[in-house]
Amino acid sequence: MSRYLTLLLLPILAILLAAHVEVNTYHFLSSSHAGRAQVLLLTAHPDDECMFFGPTLTALKKKSDIDVHSLCLSIGDQDGLGDVRRRELGRSLDVLGVDSRRSQVLDQEDLKDNITVTWDSQTIADVVSSYVSEQNISTILTFDEHGISSHPNHVSLFHGTALTLSLHPNKNLRAYALVTTPVMQKYTGVLGGFVSKIRGTLSPVSELSEDEEVRVVVASSMAEYSTALRAMLQHWSQLVWFRWLYVAFSRYMWVNDWVEIKHACVGCMAGQAKA
Ligand SMILES: *[C@@H]1O[C@H](CO)[C@@H](O)[C@H](O)[C@H]1NC(C)=O
Ligand SMILES: *[C@@H]1O[C@H](CO)[C@@H](O)[C@H](O)[C@H]1NC(C)=O
Repeated sequence: MSRYLTLLLLPILAILLAAHVEVNTYHFLSSSHAGRAQVLLLTAHPDDECMFFGPTLTALKKKSDIDVHSLCLSIGDQDGLGDVRRRELGRSLDVLGVDSRRSQVLDQEDLKDNITVTWDSQTIADVVSSYVSEQNISTILTFDEHGISSHPNHVSLFHGTALTLSLHPNKNLRAYALVTTPVMQKYTGVLGGFVSKIRGTLSPVSELSEDEEVRVVVASSMAEYSTALRAMLQHWSQLVWFRWLYVAFSRYMWVNDWVEIKHACVGCMAGQAKA
């Protein structure tokens, strides 16, 4: 009996591993100008791109009508390894298919890698706005208000992006935030990937919640996971033992869930500041 069960389960597992599932990713592709969509990944530190955004980057890599940009606001110098990490980021983006001409890493006094520091929204909005204008960016992808790990630098990017949107009210600029999943789901790894693939396949429309919030889901195939892993391996200076646990168990290596960032969040941020 259990032998038949195994015979039945193995092909299902193989299909789930090999499957790539996307829900609503066409929302990333709208272009504000004639021509190709320009999508900007906004990160805080070298290695964010492959630790959290691998499924999305590997999926976008295969789309021919889109250019992906990377703007990383620090060189990750908290431990004095900034120069090494900047080079590692270059190699990782290479693996993830982001052209070096579309990649920028900043090293500014007021945007230093520091786990105790919240970056100023206006400073972020200034640098992001000028990148958006220069490169005709139509879509920004970044962290949500919980920043995956609650790192204040990550959280700052969400607020800086909401402010950026309000500075470009007439442009067709959109932004999406990577949804921070509850702790129990964070380390479901490939199983979390399976669940998302099954849900995405069975009911893509149900991903739209009641208030019509756009929800985008990308779940990696085994091949795409390997690419993200290969990108991760470019960050040698960061590959301490717990990184291997992360690679093995993190759901973000397999699935990215996105929600659109609304201009209104600038208002709710002001509300928080007063409270
Ligand atoms: C991080 O910021 C705190 C508070 O501003 C400061 O005391 C500390 O030296 C900073 N750490 C680094 C590595 O710059
Ligand atoms: C941005 O768009 C404008 C107008 O469509 C175009 O002239 C310009 O070359 C574009 N810039 C880049 C960097 O693609």
